[in-house]
Amino acid sequence: MTLRAGIVGCGGISRSHATAYANLEGVALVALCDINSDALNTRADEYGVLNRYTDYEEMFAREGLDIVSVCTHAPLHAPITIAAAQAGIHVLCEKPLSVDLENGDRMLAACREAGVHLAVSHQFRFSPLFRHAKSLIEAGKIGELRSIREVGKGREAGFELMEMGVHYFDEMDFFLDGISWMQAHITYQGHDVTAADIMHSSELCKTDRRDNGIVAGDTMLVHIGGTKGSYGIMELYCRQRRHGWMMGPHLLGSEGQLMIKPNPETGIDELWYCPFDVSFAAHTPAWEQIEIDADKFLISGKAWQTRHTIWSAQNMREAILNGTAPELGGRNAITSLECVSATYVSHFSGQKVPLPLAERSHPLVKRLNRGENQ
Ligand SMILES: NC(=O)c1ccc[n+]([C@@H]2O[C@H](COP(=O)([O-])OP(=O)(O)OC[C@H]3O[C@@H](n4cnc5c(N)ncnc54)[C@H](O)[C@@H]3O)[C@@H](O)[C@H]2O)c1
Repeated sequence: MTLRAGIVGCGGISRSHATAYANLEGVALVALCDINSDALNTRADEYGVLNRYTDYEEMFAREGLDIVSVCTHAPLHAPITIAAAQAGIHVLCEKPLSVDLENGDRMLAACREAGVHLAVSHQFRFSPLFRHAKSLIEAGKIGELRSIREVGKGREAGFELMEMGVHYFDEMDFFLDGISWMQAHITYQGHDVTAADIMHSSELCKTDRRDNGIVAGDTMLVHIGGTKGSYGIMELYCRQRRHGWMMGPHLLGSEGQLMIKPNPETGIDELWYCPFDVSFAAHTPAWEQIEIDADKFLISGKAWQTRHTIWSAQNMREAILNGTAPELGGRNAITSLECVSATYVSHFSGQKVPLPLAERSHPLVKRLNRGENQ
């Protein structure tokens, strides 16, 4: 059986989804949709896709799709996903799943009711590097896992939380075997964030086109409590990218450390190991790179690196064909968004916040609607 795939939103990330569908065996990319006909035709010409739409409902009604990738900005993820579910189409949705838990819940309910899968595309966890790092930790390579540290790419924290933060929460969920609580502190221009600092993401971050809804703060420190007692620490602050990307987890154990970071020259992720629990600049024992069998990176005979969406798409294809749940489907689809809400709830309450949250409305929008200014 060949799955018929479509994509809604033909901007930057759609290339990764188109590449995935064009290279996965048993999947054919048959239709694309974008309200911007230049973006639509550019992507469709690039992948030789003939069926082109400017209205996603029309594409869903006419194409008999099995799977659709939702690649618009976050506020449109819910209406497009719900329309796809109602047309009986499985959904691979770009992160963040939505702008708030209320909409995330509606997306999950619509897909459950229609009997289709909904998965969110946090592709990193599927990479052989992440899988191998986890198996090393389980085998005791770094002793007891104590904490995982992640640092943002340097954009304003409220914006970054929805871009890289959700990926990091998913990585922590993966390595910590689940997240049970969060504690956060957020500042804006040097002072603790109050309701007066809540704004639209485009006002906070003027250097990025993406709409991430209502956000707050330029600096965040978030503590994450794993279900088995290990911690996550996420730091988001404005910084220049002089030293390349810092993205990727730093895993600290009682008897060693692991790090997955992109090589600044090639941009390709590498896994590194240090046999000590702490390291000092002048006395750091040599870190050694852990090589992984090249054939682990192969899909359809080609080698793919960590950041390729093909890892998420492959997991979704298997779920559809085998009738199993996708790894980031069901409640797992919403975990990283749950962490976003908990970050704000924790900051404003000054409390450690257990997950899952009972309150599902957007914690910042709720404050704005109540007219609070503290
Ligand atoms: N998983 C990852 O690593 C990763 C990387 C980059 C971006 N993303 C996510 O992907 C999403 C899209 O980001 P992007 O960088 O591709 O954005 P983009 O601005 O490049 O593209 C968005 C596209 O959606 C189109 N669009 C808007 N309204 C539409 C509608 N009603 N119907 C059809 N198309 C519509 C726009 O015309 C535009 O072409 C965001 O949620 C972003 O966070 C994920």
